[in-house]
Amino acid sequence: MNFIEGKTKNELLVRFSLLGENMKDYGKYFKKPSIKDARLRKGDTEVIEFNIANELMSLGKNKKYSIQTYGCQGNEADTEKMAGIFEQMGFEKAPSTEADIILLNTCAVRDNAENRVFGEMGRLSSLKRTNPNLLLGICGCMPQEESVVNKLLEKYPYIDLIFGTHNIHKLPEYLYTAYLDKERVVEVFSTEGSIVEDIPKIRDNKTKAWINIMYGCDEFCTYCIVPYTRGKERSRMPEAIIAEVKELAENGYKEVTLLGQNVNAYAKDLESEYTFGQLLRDLNETGIKRIRYTTSHPRDLDLDTIKAMAESENVMEHLHLPVQSGSNSVLKKMNRKYTREDYLELVRLLKEYIPSISITTDIIVGFPNETEEDFLETISLVEEVGFEGAFTFIYSKREGTPAAKYEDTVTNEEKKSRLNRLMEATNKGYLIGSKRFEHEVVEVLVDSTSKNDPDMLTGYTRHNKLVNFKGNKDSIGKIVKVKIKEGKTWHLLGEQV
Ligand code: SAH
Ligand code: SF4
Ligand code: F3S
Repeated sequence: MNFIEGKTKNELLVRFSLLGENMKDYGKYFKKPSIKDARLRKGDTEVIEFNIANELMSLGKNKKYSIQTYGCQGNEADTEKMAGIFEQMGFEKAPSTEADIILLNTCAVRDNAENRVFGEMGRLSSLKRTNPNLLLGICGCMPQEESVVNKLLEKYPYIDLIFGTHNIHKLPEYLYTAYLDKERVVEVFSTEGSIVEDIPKIRDNKTKAWINIMYGCDEFCTYCIVPYTRGKERSRMPEAIIAEVKELAENGYKEVTLLGQNVNAYAKDLESEYTFGQLLRDLNETGIKRIRYTTSHPRDLDLDTIKAMAESENVMEHLHLPVQSGSNSVLKKMNRKYTREDYLELVRLLKEYIPSISITTDIIVGFPNETEEDFLETISLVEEVGFEGAFTFIYSKREGTPAAKYEDTVTNEEKKSRLNRLMEATNKGYLIGSKRFEHEVVEVLVDSTSKNDPDMLTGYTRHNKLVNFKGNKDSIGKIVKVKIKEGKTWHLLGEQV
């Protein structure tokens, strides 16, 4: 077992067997996550090259895997890496009912995301009755939370693998332990923040690709669990990103979406003068036709990035710029580090440099003690900016975050009413954003035939508008011109020209 040689006991997998044993006896081998440690930002970022020990390469022979993904694009990108690892080890992809191992790649950002996962685990446990060899695993952001791991250990003894966001690259070892040592695997790193290059990927889409440009988040918005579940901000080297995008373009990919929780902080942790704006300019030269990025933080979005967007033909005229609230007092309590006025000034600059830009956002209502006046400021900001799309959420308390301790007297009914009123306002913005393209010819990257009508094609415009249109099926995977006949709230209708 080469992969174990030369390592101390503590560096090894944390092994934990529940079979007839008292959990407490295993405390010393058991690396549970710690929300307190996850706050710490220390040490250099280690760059690890991924490889799988030869002995493990055929472990997946005649076995099938299934991964269910929850949460953000960061998780979708991680799932593509885990699929890559499984397939390199000989596993084949299958639906969960036929799988030998099922992983749930989870999201911790709101309570309802977590409840869905707990419900699904209950449902999947019944598959174990018909297939006793089935392994069930949970990974992603939920296991990074102390409270979740405690609950899993207490109430879900049938879960075989528990690991977090920082140790996907150790999946081969975990599979070895689960299959050959028949032990339960529980390993979650709380302070780690390495970058692992060269993990193989099985990309879900043949024309559009996710590209991680940085990991982690150092913003610590007071409501948010992400800085604890994803660790410190760390950027990939520009050369690695550029090479990946060039290769994708050569292989026929049309679009990349650059991923990070706060992409405007890209490269700030690298010892160089390189910036996110420079990355956009460099990627514009790679031959990839469409470049998008998410998510942008208003505090770090600078004029150079806006200029880079404006100058680079292949960077799309759409920006997702989460505002969270229109009230300065709420923004302050959220630790967003900008004001309503700062945000409006950014919007002004964006519209000055990129006149046709479509701006979308995220908004939270019902932050602890948000007043009706605070809420009305959010509504007025929505109207003033003219957002053409918004993800709207009711605040969800996350254990371990500062806001979890804030006093909150707003009732649930009031929070629901605010969400409904907010959605009315944002829906108007969606419709205005669609109507403005009526009778225009737009470029559409064609995804597929429409689910509801096989005679129609579907895809997205440069401004990230969904279009359903009559066209030639050979256009799938290509960028084509479409004349828009009608703008609806959620999509545009048109015909290929
Ligand atoms: N890094 C990104 C998004 C992270 S999570 C950013 O800062 O924009 C996506 C969205 O979930 C956030 O923008 C926020 O609107 C929402 N969100 C995060 N924590 C939340 C919580 N505790 N309750 C409700 N919504 C939350
Ligand atoms: Fe969460 Fe704020 Fe970081 Fe976004 S920027 S991931 S909302 S802490
Ligand atoms: Fe959810 Fe983790 Fe993404 S908490 S939003 S999956 S970073």
